Amino acid sequence: MNPLRASSHVLEHDFSLSASAAELDSLAAWRERPRIQQPTWPDEDARATVAERLRQAPPLVFAGEVDQLADRVASAARGEAFVLMGGDCAETFADSTADRIRNKIRTILQMSAVLTYGASMPVVKMGRMAGQFAKPRSGDTETRDGVTLPSYRGDGVNGFEFTEASRLPDPERLWRMYTTSASTLNLMRAFTTGGFADLREVHAWNQGFIAGPEYARYESLARDIDRAVRFMAACGYDFEALRSVEFYAAHEGLLLDYEEALSRIDSRTGQVYDCSGHFLWIGERTRQLDGAHVEFLAKVSNPIGVKLGPTATVEDALALIDVLDPERRPGRLTFITRMGADRIRDALPPLVEGVRDAGAEVAWVTDPMHGNTITSSNGYKTRRFEDILDEVVGFFEVHEGLGTIPAGLHMELTGDDVTEVLGGVGEIDEIGLERRYETLVDPRLNHRQSLELAFLVAERLSRRA
Ligand code: PEP
Ligand code: CO
Repeated sequence: MNPLRASSHVLEHDFSLSASAAELDSLAAWRERPRIQQPTWPDEDARATVAERLRQAPPLVFAGEVDQLADRVASAARGEAFVLMGGDCAETFADSTADRIRNKIRTILQMSAVLTYGASMPVVKMGRMAGQFAKPRSGDTETRDGVTLPSYRGDGVNGFEFTEASRLPDPERLWRMYTTSASTLNLMRAFTTGGFADLREVHAWNQGFIAGPEYARYESLARDIDRAVRFMAACGYDFEALRSVEFYAAHEGLLLDYEEALSRIDSRTGQVYDCSGHFLWIGERTRQLDGAHVEFLAKVSNPIGVKLGPTATVEDALALIDVLDPERRPGRLTFITRMGADRIRDALPPLVEGVRDAGAEVAWVTDPMHGNTITSSNGYKTRRFEDILDEVVGFFEVHEGLGTIPAGLHMELTGDDVTEVLGGVGEIDEIGLERRYETLVDPRLNHRQSLELAFLVAERLSRRA
């Protein structure tokens, strides 16, 4: 399959989804489980009213697309494709503008073209987008200057502003999460059929880089891509046919009120799909085997992920496989590991070996962001580009050592020129963080850092090929 082959999936939507079948009732079983990281809605009637509105609303994604993504993830798990997931730690309503969304999509498409070339294999592209509006927090409350208020849990729950009114969870925000996700998806669908991923632009992408120690490493790869593209164009290859790409939406399935209300039955098969996004994942904090999130996501047919941190054991991993993927469906389950650069080489091998030896097939994806968060001396929550890269390299080393498949990369990034992560070719230092630090939750790679990382990973993948 050519990775950039135009897909007609947008035209083949299956609309035969029903919101009212009795099977959906069993989805509510999560309410009987320990529920953590859920907001305390102040008014149960108001929550139920919004949930009913969401139940009647059109699904955001369709069963056929979701199944297609599961096939793509399955090929990544077999080493025939590579997954790239990226986007904000937390989307916000205010930043869900056309420019910002376009910049993010462009960044992911550019990274993916670089990786496609480096790996000589298709890249499965997913945005942490169109639904990433809820965050797990370490505490239910936040105290500033003696004032204690509910923690910010993402725009889908409450406001970031530190006032009582803003921090009160408001179920109307669930509706706004749906409408903002719908408008974001609309742009995603439009941009990814509009020539954005055109490989002929590759030389231009590099122009934002300045000469530096890292420069030559990706400049030569960009030159190679450019040469290959020109060669194929000279041979009469039809690049116009490659202007559309598949692009999927992923988010943490955290707010179960929202996820349940957007679940639908596929009337062709009777299967339940969570139609809020193509791919949902369970966070490191909510992956308890008897918890509400595992119970809920076990019941939907989407491809799903589970984050695994350095304390995860083989037993945890195998038990999660048994509950979430009892039928061992290819593409169903992805483990997204987030160990930290200093832990990955020790903590990952036993998990990968244990899962392999049990005969289970999952896709192993690395999240090199969440195990590498630090606070700078001037008080910013940040990460070092070199640690992020080191975790990625460690991830490849572990899989090379075991003869297993590194199936993908999960990143927090933005297409804008923010200064939130230290290092990279732009050499952002601690003072530099002050220039343009915009994230409300975790620090993101900016456009240049994202491309730089893609070139470095591509180099690594090309060694594997
Ligand atoms: C996240 O992906 O933003 C996140 C909270 O990650 P984790 O569950 O791995 O901590
Ligand atoms: Co994050």
